[in-house]
Amino acid sequence: MTLAEKVGQLAQVHVAKLTSDSVLDEVFADEGVGSILSGGGELPGGTNTPRAWAEGINRIQKAALDRSRLQIPILYGADAPHGLSPVLGSVIFPQQIGMGATRDPALVRQVAAVTARGASALGIRWIFGPVADVSRDLRWGRYYETYSEDPTLASSLVVATVRGLQGNSSSQLVVAATAKHFIGYSQPRSGRDRFPVTLSSAALTKWFVPPFQAAVDAGAATVMTQHSAVNGTPVVASHELATDLLRGTMRFGGVLISDWGDVADLYCPGGNPPNPKFTCLASSPKDAVRRALNAGLDVTMIPDDSAQFTSSLIELVQSGAVSTERLDEAVKRVLTLKFELGLFEQPYVDASRARAGVIAASDRRLARKAVDRSLTLLKNRHHILPLKKRGGPLLVVGPAATSVSRQMGGWTIGWQGIPAGAKPPAVTILQGIREAVGAKKVLSANWRSKTDIRAKAKKARAIVVAIGEKAYAEWYGDNPRGALAANQVRLVKAAEATGKPVVLLLVAGRPLMITNLVKKSDAFLMAYLPGTEAGHGVADVLFGRVSPRGKLPVSWPASIKDVPMVKGIRLKDGKRAKPLFAYGTGLSY
Ligand code: GLC
Repeated sequence: MTLAEKVGQLAQVHVAKLTSDSVLDEVFADEGVGSILSGGGELPGGTNTPRAWAEGINRIQKAALDRSRLQIPILYGADAPHGLSPVLGSVIFPQQIGMGATRDPALVRQVAAVTARGASALGIRWIFGPVADVSRDLRWGRYYETYSEDPTLASSLVVATVRGLQGNSSSQLVVAATAKHFIGYSQPRSGRDRFPVTLSSAALTKWFVPPFQAAVDAGAATVMTQHSAVNGTPVVASHELATDLLRGTMRFGGVLISDWGDVADLYCPGGNPPNPKFTCLASSPKDAVRRALNAGLDVTMIPDDSAQFTSSLIELVQSGAVSTERLDEAVKRVLTLKFELGLFEQPYVDASRARAGVIAASDRRLARKAVDRSLTLLKNRHHILPLKKRGGPLLVVGPAATSVSRQMGGWTIGWQGIPAGAKPPAVTILQGIREAVGAKKVLSANWRSKTDIRAKAKKARAIVVAIGEKAYAEWYGDNPRGALAANQVRLVKAAEATGKPVVLLLVAGRPLMITNLVKKSDAFLMAYLPGTEAGHGVADVLFGRVSPRGKLPVSWPASIKDVPMVKGIRLKDGKRAKPLFAYGTGLSY
């Protein structure tokens, strides 16, 4: 391999860059880029169907191989945190925090295997998951992407995901899993995504390392560094974390990839960080590449300017600023991964089989079972639940009762959730309840109208109030107060003021600060972000087809003053504070 061919294998660019034949020439012929990703919501082909994904990735693969002297196939990556969630038509499973409530590694592994089945059928052979970050701060917009605050529970589910994604053979991987985001990412200052992290080495070792260690021990093929700085040094430039800890102590031998744009972000034009998310270590874009490669990074998720990356790295190796040994070590890991995926033997997929690979009837049943197992009953005054199917009408009201987008959350079809116009398969909570008791027995109301709620409640034997959050991803979901929207607080109070029994249902990626609302409701069910089968799963529990089994995978603080909280301990002062619901809470019938 020439120096340029080696360097190209360490570059990953996003598919949105591949806009023309001349760009294909630049990316694959000139730079030899070895990996392509779909960023959140980015498609390899014109439309979002399984077949279009497969054909699009095949086209990119052919464009790369036609321009590769050594016929080195590209590796295509995407995020699929809760089923093959970027692909329209796939069944969407509960987000990780809901799967955490199941405490069921076998179930998690089954779900991951479904994801891998679909991904490999399309040519997506690198899945950027599982999130191995432990849950630390509910203000953080990525809290729902974590499994649990308990490192042991998180480890068991991370391992299950790695094994489900990669399959049973270490020499022939179905897809490559990625333990992300290494390390400390989930405790950003003030709960703001990508803000710097301050952690003692004891805390790092006790709370953050275990799930990553478990992933490594389970054979995770890749690890992704986190965006921000730990104790002043961006992880992507931290030899102490990316090499001494990850390679030395934890014995990771696979590919280490950066997160989106993080190498380039080591350099701040003018030297001043635009905001606290940036720590400007590098004196130039080339120095940024030098720092990251010498810290131990293998692949850079660029995502755009591959020319700058490849030319810089070629110069750095030629000058000795990055050693040939370091370069070869990284390239060897990448090529080994491509061999383990069988890409040299079979770089293409059969697009005619794409849909069958992504969509199977059994997936809906598995998704419903996952919802059934995740739902967590936290209050059931006078055993109001399960509700009888027979009897007077039920009033079902609230934004989460009818919103497919809300029940899925972020990283679903689009980065920030379902884009307008997209219609993934789904059963809403209102639909599920109507199916269970008969549409004529279900009343609806305008949830913003106290008058309408009051009027409809008169005819209802009970009210199911479905509240929660709009879909979000990353910093868009930062919620400094952990608050429920004010108009939904008013909705719950209006329902409670009717005097009718109120079943409160929260569809959200985290505990919200709704202590007073919970205290005045008769029953409270945490649904997390349940996905496609939300409606059937919620009805299964509401009407007793299944007894709820979910257990809180995180602490539920009684007040924002106690956030962040882990296992009933406030992180800001180490003092114990009584949570509204403790880690592990969950009632059954
Ligand atoms: C994002 C996320 C990471 C994701 C990557 C590719 O910045 O931090 O979780 O895998 O980009 O979409």
